[in-house]
Amino acid sequence: MTGPTQTESDDFPLLCPNDTRASEQICLPDEQATEDFARSFASRLRGGETVFVNGELGVGKTTLIRGILRALGVRSHVRSPTYTLVESYQTLRGPAVHLDLYRLAQPAELEFVADGEFWARPALRLIEWPDHGRGFLPNPDIQIHLALLPHGRALELTDQRLSARKGG
Ligand SMILES: Nc1ncnc2c1ncn2[C@@H]1O[C@H](COP(=O)(O)OP(=O)(O)OP(=O)(O)O)[C@@H](O)[C@H]1O
Ligand SMILES: [Mg+2]
Repeated sequence: MTGPTQTESDDFPLLCPNDTRASEQICLPDEQATEDFARSFASRLRGGETVFVNGELGVGKTTLIRGILRALGVRSHVRSPTYTLVESYQTLRGPAVHLDLYRLAQPAELEFVADGEFWARPALRLIEWPDHGRGFLPNPDIQIHLALLPHGRALELTDQRLSARKGG
């Protein structure tokens, strides 16, 4: 008789619904892997989360966020908010906003595009370059960090809510 089969949690942890580890790491060898990850990650979102997406220029932050929005039913063009700073969408999980704060000269400038009223509205918030808005952003529920590898990208995800519950 065979026992329960081992899940593939080490290979693709976010496909395991009962996985309660606070931090996950995954290798994304190509853009397709990023899109696949985006889809599985999106399926775990309820809507209303604040997600920080960190990583250097051109590492794939927008690619990941575009994949998340597409997986949540956005059919319109998802363009990088490099100049507009904010783009808004309607998704299957309610409103979503995509922010790219790279061009903020100072965090306080964020108040011109995202004031208290903006943050009071419930929405899934997907934020590139959150460091540039430090002190003027809500706390993240989930932090994602992307890093360049010789072939592809490394992604680390930390669910702050699980970390808080674990006291770590
Ligand atoms: N896993 C991956 N492996 C290899 N290339 C990837 C991967 N994910 C995304 N890319 C490629 O990385 C490039 C840059 O992507 P993207 O514009 O999403 O980066 P970004 O982090 O948003 O950049 P910026 O900091 O300028 O906003 C794109 O050409 C995309 O195809
Ligand atoms: Mg980008």
